[in-house]
Amino acid sequence: MRTTINQIKEMKARAEKIVMLTAYDYSTARIVDEAEIPLILVGDSLGMVVLGYESTIPVTMDEMLHHTKAVVRGTKQAMVIGDMPFMTYHVSVEDALRNAARFIQEAGAQAVKLEGGVTVAEKVRRIVDCGIPVMGHIGLTPQSIHQFGGFKMQGKTPEAAANLLEDAKALEQAGVFAIVLETIPANLARLITDKVSVPTIGIGAGLECDGQVQVINDILGSFADFVPKHAKQYVKLTDIISKAVTQYRDEVKSGSFPAE
Ligand code: KIV
Repeated sequence: MRTTINQIKEMKARAEKIVMLTAYDYSTARIVDEAEIPLILVGDSLGMVVLGYESTIPVTMDEMLHHTKAVVRGTKQAMVIGDMPFMTYHVSVEDALRNAARFIQEAGAQAVKLEGGVTVAEKVRRIVDCGIPVMGHIGLTPQSIHQFGGFKMQGKTPEAAANLLEDAKALEQAGVFAIVLETIPANLARLITDKVSVPTIGIGAGLECDGQVQVINDILGSFADFVPKHAKQYVKLTDIISKAVTQYRDEVKSGSFPAE
């Protein structure tokens, strides 16, 4: 039985920390699932860490569905959340419903995530009304980097902080089961966490959220282009892989691989 939204909400009530991690492929998803991580996000961050785009903006529905299907095949217990790409839920409610439904029907995900607060609340409500669980995402929402002028901390002024609290409240009202808070001051994240009944999942938002999410490549040290300040590298896979690949190259060239 996979993790349910009720179980995630109950974790907040019990003050049990919620662990969430991204995955983008079958083999990694199996490892994360077997580690009993309850929430796996197929993030549109795959545009950067898997596909080599400069941002998440070029990511398409077809790319997201392709990777979400692989993650679903690799998991048994986790709730798999598909991240709705840029402009797939902005133009109309109909678009938002159709694209959210594709994650559930075609890819086999159990929930979707989308970025924004007050401005997307109506679409969130309509998706939830169709029976599709939605995770919100506010703060440094990467699909808006051109609006923000780069990957910058959000919610630093009193006015910006008040707007983010309003966004969180609007998402709660619209029926989200959890909200990602990305790159906002820790005291604001604590305030939002106290003021909303649904769990908050932080990334670069301090310790006092109800849970934490990280991009798996950041904690494994397997993406060298950019390492966010909030990430802890538990291992540096780029070095380990590079050493193995170099050794393989040398052994093939010298004739010591394969063994007889
Ligand atoms: O795309 C992603 O991986 C995300 C997380 C960083 C929350 O949205």
